[in-house]
Amino acid sequence: MVNNHDRVVIRGLRGVAAAETKISFVEPLGALYYLGYNIDALVEHVCYEEVVYLLLHGKLPTRKELDELKSQLIAEMILPEAVINNIKSFPLNSHPMEVLRTEISHLSMYDPDPESTSEHVNIRRAIRLVAKVPTIVATLHRTRTNQQLVAPNEEVGLPENFLYLFRGKTADSEEKEAIDRFMTLHADHGFNASTFAARVTASTNSDMYSAVTGAVGTLKGPLHGGASEKVMYMLDDINTEEEVEDYIQGMLDDQKKIMGFGHRVYRSEDPRTKHLRVIAGNLCHRTNTMNLYNLCRRIENVVHEKKKIFPNVDFYAAVTLNALGVPFDFFTPFFASSRICGWTAHVIEQYKDAVLLRPSSSYVGEYGRPFTPLEKR
Ligand SMILES: CC(C)(COP(=O)(O)OP(=O)(O)OC[C@H]1O[C@@H](n2cnc3c(N)ncnc32)[C@H](O)[C@@H]1OP(=O)(O)O)[C@@H](O)C(=O)NCCC(=O)NCCS
Repeated sequence: MVNNHDRVVIRGLRGVAAAETKISFVEPLGALYYLGYNIDALVEHVCYEEVVYLLLHGKLPTRKELDELKSQLIAEMILPEAVINNIKSFPLNSHPMEVLRTEISHLSMYDPDPESTSEHVNIRRAIRLVAKVPTIVATLHRTRTNQQLVAPNEEVGLPENFLYLFRGKTADSEEKEAIDRFMTLHADHGFNASTFAARVTASTNSDMYSAVTGAVGTLKGPLHGGASEKVMYMLDDINTEEEVEDYIQGMLDDQKKIMGFGHRVYRSEDPRTKHLRVIAGNLCHRTNTMNLYNLCRRIENVVHEKKKIFPNVDFYAAVTLNALGVPFDFFTPFFASSRICGWTAHVIEQYKDAVLLRPSSSYVGEYGRPFTPLEKR
């Protein structure tokens, strides 16, 4: 028998490089690159659809390519009737992430080329998912709140349409910029847990829908994308800036994690935070909720003083979505509606790598235990 007790376990796969990627790079000192472009430049100068094109094709689009992609995305925002009917049938207490996970899986049954695994068809499939995931999220919200479903507006882009389908009203220029930047900042992030889950599924040559369904289930956890919803419950619990110190100390004394803080890779501030802080601040100013923004600034200072950790993407993302009128339980679905772009790009890259992702383990159980028949146990 081969003894594998002595296999080295890298707990949590911390620092392990499981594959090569050209899609994005998370620089521990606090930078993020998509295909080599710094996120700080992308968020200022390109729209979300350019990022979608970049991640799926490896280059920024020409004007013609961008226009084509935008039209394709709007056309693909329409859902199969069966998906809409399913969304209407789920128990009202089901979490939006449960519905999203189920309906992405359901979408696979309506794929127009189910047998094809060519890269061309996979890019088409990715575009379908990038367009349809936000519509699933918006449709769920509209049906839950007994509001009419709204058809996409062909005159505007995907992020603006997402807000339009969700809220039923046209976004103004500041809201439009906020949702576009939110989606760009959430589009991809290296080998995070949900992307890795998607790549593991893709590495068995399973289909893109299965890979993305697994990714949604992984994102749902509060240590990953589920954190943004929890941030808002924490902010709701703290009434004034004066309460912050005791509240945070109480959480730390109880060994509880402060949601929206800390990161596996970054050793300084998450590079997305500075952008989301500005967006959240502007929106809070407009909605007369600067008290919430100031509370966040105080929490940042106190957590840093006590633990030397920084806010991650989820902290100000929560405040941003709240100011855009998104209910707390839809925060993670908004994250998923943007990350769908990165997940599908990674699935396509993983197919090209063509290797099964299958680690080993260090077995620490027993061997050769004596067997007792059922009637004698
Ligand atoms: C994201 C997360 C899972 C990373 O975990 P990790 O890689 O194991 O964290 P680290 O090893 O860098 O933690 C270093 C130290 O900071 C502490 N820490 C990290 N995040 C913390 C948090 N949010 N609240 C309190 N303490 C935290 C750890 O307990 C550890 O303390 P110790 O050295 O006293 O044991 C963790 O930071 C976390 O749970 N954050 C809250 C959930 C969240 O916001 N998730 C979204 C991530 S984008």
